[in-house]
Amino acid sequence: MSNDAIDTDCITLTRYVLAQQRKHPEATGDLTQLLNALLTAIKAVSSAVRKAGIHSLYGIAGSTNVTGDEVKKLDVLSNDLFINMLKSSFTTCLMVSEENENVIEVETEKQGKYIVMFDPLDGSSNIDCLVSIGSIFGVYKKTSAGTPGVNDALQQGNKLVVAGYALYGSATMVVLGLGGGSVNGFTLDPSIGEFLLTEKDIKIKPRGKIYSLNEGYEQYWDEPTREYVKSKKFPTSGKPYGGRYVGSMVADVHRTLVYGGIFMYPSTTLAPAGKLRLLYECNPMAFIIEQAGGLAVDGMNRILDIQPKFIHERSPIFMGSKEDVEDVIAIFKKHKK
Ligand code: AHM
Ligand code: MG
Repeated sequence: MSNDAIDTDCITLTRYVLAQQRKHPEATGDLTQLLNALLTAIKAVSSAVRKAGIHSLYGIAGSTNVTGDEVKKLDVLSNDLFINMLKSSFTTCLMVSEENENVIEVETEKQGKYIVMFDPLDGSSNIDCLVSIGSIFGVYKKTSAGTPGVNDALQQGNKLVVAGYALYGSATMVVLGLGGGSVNGFTLDPSIGEFLLTEKDIKIKPRGKIYSLNEGYEQYWDEPTREYVKSKKFPTSGKPYGGRYVGSMVADVHRTLVYGGIFMYPSTTLAPAGKLRLLYECNPMAFIIEQAGGLAVDGMNRILDIQPKFIHERSPIFMGSKEDVEDVIAIFKKHKK
């Protein structure tokens, strides 16, 4: 093999974050440390995801594997990794996880100034059939004085410092938004265990050709959603949009980011606030999509401007290419009149 195949000056995710940090002389390096902790968790989850099929030959959750160790369910394992890596990074004081009913407080001696929201393993219904799954995270600063508490976690998405996701797909990729309108994709090179910058300054197309939602629930949709989807399937001119739905938010949103189009989880009669959680599913993904030039709304209002009232709050969501989401907003406005 020729040495040319090896980039001896590759940009790793850590190198990229350090370079960004240098632009802010006041930065302490805590955010770099926090992201490194997250990356360690993500690498371990990625490895566990890749081996999950083999493990299940020997034991399922709650039972023991071939070596006699207890086999943890993948989502429990991922949650433990996120919590433990973040706690031991000395950068975080409070966490909200999809897996924990209450906020997770970090021991006083390990506290730092950041608050992290995460869904350690999203798309869990896809684990057993080897379809792509992901992790989602959002990072805020603690702004109040005193002991960190639940109110510190109830910040609007527009206050996010960093958001990102990891997609465990045909490769493992981390997509990171540091604010300032820049979204970058880093692919895990398993041979060196590093995330390398492979997709620079990702921008979402102004309009796509794909819509993505669970069509099985059509009878439960609200009227604007029904009208919008119909307009894409039976356009008055041109070809209909293609439909794609993985059922893993990270995979569906990543495809939307890369190919353009719209991802939706609307309000239904069974779930009036939709299914997806504002703090650790909607907000981080909305932040990435907006930073890449797209839009994310709950029908009419910007997702990132919603004031959360409780940590596991849900919100309907329509996100993706700007013009596609604007079509949705127009239909919602028309129905409101
Ligand atoms: P989960 O957090 O239990 O994995 O659920 C979230 C997932 C998302 O990844 C996905 O967009 C959605 O649920 C799919 O839901 P549905 O099966 O109702 O279409
Ligand atoms: Mg989830």
